[in-house]
Amino acid sequence: MTQQQFPQDFLWGGAVAAHQVEGGWDQGGKGISICDVLSGGSHGVDRVMTDGVQPGYSYPNHEAVDFYHRYKEDVALFAEMGFKCFRTSIAWTRIFPNGDELEPNEAGLQFYDDLFDELLKHGIEPVITLSHFEMPWHLVKQYGGWLNRKVVDFFVRFSEVVLRRYQHKVKYWMTFNEINNQRTWNYPLFGYCCSGVVFTDHEKPEQAMYQVMHHQFVASAKLVELGHRINPDFQIGCMIAMVPIYPFSCHPDDVMFAQEAMHRRYVFSDVQMRGYYPAYTLNEWARKGYHIEMEAEDEATLRNGCCDYIGFSYYMSNAVQANTKGEGDSITGFEGSVPNPHVKASDWGWQIDPVGLRYSLNILYERYQKPLFIVENGFGAIDKPNADGFIEDDYRIDYLSAHIEQMKKAVLEDGVDLMGYTPWGCIDCVSFTTGQYNKRYGFIHVDKNDDGTGTMARSKKKSFAWYQQVIASNGEQL
Ligand code: BG6
Repeated sequence: MTQQQFPQDFLWGGAVAAHQVEGGWDQGGKGISICDVLSGGSHGVDRVMTDGVQPGYSYPNHEAVDFYHRYKEDVALFAEMGFKCFRTSIAWTRIFPNGDELEPNEAGLQFYDDLFDELLKHGIEPVITLSHFEMPWHLVKQYGGWLNRKVVDFFVRFSEVVLRRYQHKVKYWMTFNEINNQRTWNYPLFGYCCSGVVFTDHEKPEQAMYQVMHHQFVASAKLVELGHRINPDFQIGCMIAMVPIYPFSCHPDDVMFAQEAMHRRYVFSDVQMRGYYPAYTLNEWARKGYHIEMEAEDEATLRNGCCDYIGFSYYMSNAVQANTKGEGDSITGFEGSVPNPHVKASDWGWQIDPVGLRYSLNILYERYQKPLFIVENGFGAIDKPNADGFIEDDYRIDYLSAHIEQMKKAVLEDGVDLMGYTPWGCIDCVSFTTGQYNKRYGFIHVDKNDDGTGTMARSKKKSFAWYQQVIASNGEQL
């Protein structure tokens, strides 16, 4: 019999990351993370990575939306919307402030115990990313970030502590958020946030990126293996930014160009899901004369640590054309990228393409035959309250319902195995790429603005009641 609706245990929820919501950047013994030294920017104005906290800069992640102090109020609102799960990350610097200590910081561990207890009290399953763009700054300064193999051990130590501590509270984990962003090695923010490395500072930037990638694959595989020993019920996923790359035309050169562009990104999920390097990457290294340092046991480690599912973000698709000189825009950063005339773009140039989500679900499922989890999707916009102070965000409802419609087709018509759906920034938070408050995604508005004004008060947008009804009807009423 064919499936008529989403499974009853489908994980509806919402997603954020610690550094984008928590604030409390220097509280509870927390150390400085790379995001604490990242200034605010805006569309077209890059965030600056400063050398320590410097006067004259604003650092939006220091305060973020004060989830550190207000999480109970926020979790109650998530529960009111009917969330079955909530995705966030653990700030490494709350647990190991510098990253290279031998013993964890109890106050940091207690914070996440309290948060997870609060979620579970409301029947909300925590979905936890171990590394979401916020490694200790000390590891970047003193060790050079993930280019240094020692960081693998530091990360495994941190992760082992939290996997053990929360083994009875958290079942769903992910290792590295959008690990494939750093493939765009010529855009400094991506390498910096994924791994604490600005690749363009290195003589062979692409080789450096692959070296980092290998270290993170080893760390991820070790954790999957270790996690399953700690609790065999753990579901540990990888996490990629899924931006399907379309050929601009049916010219065979465009089609091949698009396929090669996808290979450059698939390597990140291929290794984490299959446990070995694909030939197209090994051949590329040989062709380019790249040497990637590996240890004798790495091959076995990768094979024994394949992830259980693929978590992915989906915001947009991209089109590429062979034989173009352009580098695409700086955020999407895809070589040969050209505007797709068949789709519209957001104010930040992100091309809106709901059908691309169904397409992505299908190609990922066909490629790996493993469960998928859409752990980010959403519409960043400037919300303007009406005369009564209420935000009627129909544009967000339109975006999300069009995507859920396509997600439904993928599950109900195409038979894709999908675990859940957690739209990004379920509560307004600091933007990753621009550091803005005013680029908003939430169902819950936070009164905080780019100019620093605002009370941090929470209020429900129109999309709040809409999403509540989507969850209550298990995706029937959009
Ligand atoms: C993803 C990240 O890239 O997209 C999130 O995992 C990020 O951290 C989200 O916030 C949306 O991007 P932005 O720049 O609009 O906040």
